[in-house]
Amino acid sequence: MITAIPQPEARLLILEDEAAVAREAARRFVAAASRAVEAGTLCRVALSGGRTPLRTYRLLATDGMFRDSIHWPSMEFFWGDERCVPHDHPDSNYGAAWEALLRHVPVEQGRVHPIPDAPEPALAAEAYQATLRRAFGSDPVRFDLVLLGLGPDGHTASLFPPAPPAGEGDVLVAAARRPQDGSERVTLTPAALNAAHQILFLVTGAEKAEMLRSVLAAKEPDPAVPATLIRPDRGRIAWLADQTAAEWVAEETEDSHGGVEP
Ligand code: 6PG
Repeated sequence: MITAIPQPEARLLILEDEAAVAREAARRFVAAASRAVEAGTLCRVALSGGRTPLRTYRLLATDGMFRDSIHWPSMEFFWGDERCVPHDHPDSNYGAAWEALLRHVPVEQGRVHPIPDAPEPALAAEAYQATLRRAFGSDPVRFDLVLLGLGPDGHTASLFPPAPPAGEGDVLVAAARRPQDGSERVTLTPAALNAAHQILFLVTGAEKAEMLRSVLAAKEPDPAVPATLIRPDRGRIAWLADQTAAEWVAEETEDSHGGVEP
């Protein structure tokens, strides 16, 4: 069910469960890859960290319907954010995506760009900004697809409330700190994320329902809720949610007698 929501450019797709969200995300991943190949370009994807996207990554690596529909040598991988830990650390977003997807598919050498693990997050951010500039060459840094998750506190990537790193304009990568535990992070800035052709949020689980409802109802970007800062400059944005994360839609539909578009 496609549901129109206050953010007019955003679309909320409510799917039965986590498996259905993963399948739809994989389908859209394949579509983005196919568009790039048809255009004769690389498909540059910024992967999300966290647990939610792992099911999608595993599906892309193992389900022939998706895996065999992707021209992997045309894919180039980046990360939306990273924890400042070694790449073989269980918390590494690079490590998680490598295990779930990248080690299983024929991606070209040199087309997987992990955020470097540097002792100083600001140095890692600077180095990654240089990596982006080098990888995109004369093209603007504009991802074909950005995958993002949502935290119950309204964070996305490693843009945490109360205010994400200043990063505007040409600052594409910033150091960050997770307030809950003070852990160091490196994250793409809203400017880098919003330049993307397509942004796909994957949100599952009842614990995210209230925040998902707030973010989608937001009329204006609010630095206290960083996910509301994610509004594509020219591209498209879609939210894939399972029924538990979107349970409020049914309530609103009942309350407003169909005020939410079918
Ligand atoms: C990270 C992610 C982060 C994640 C959300 C949701 O590094 O953890 O970038 O923004 O997407 O916290 O995480 P889950 O998918 O694990 O719920």
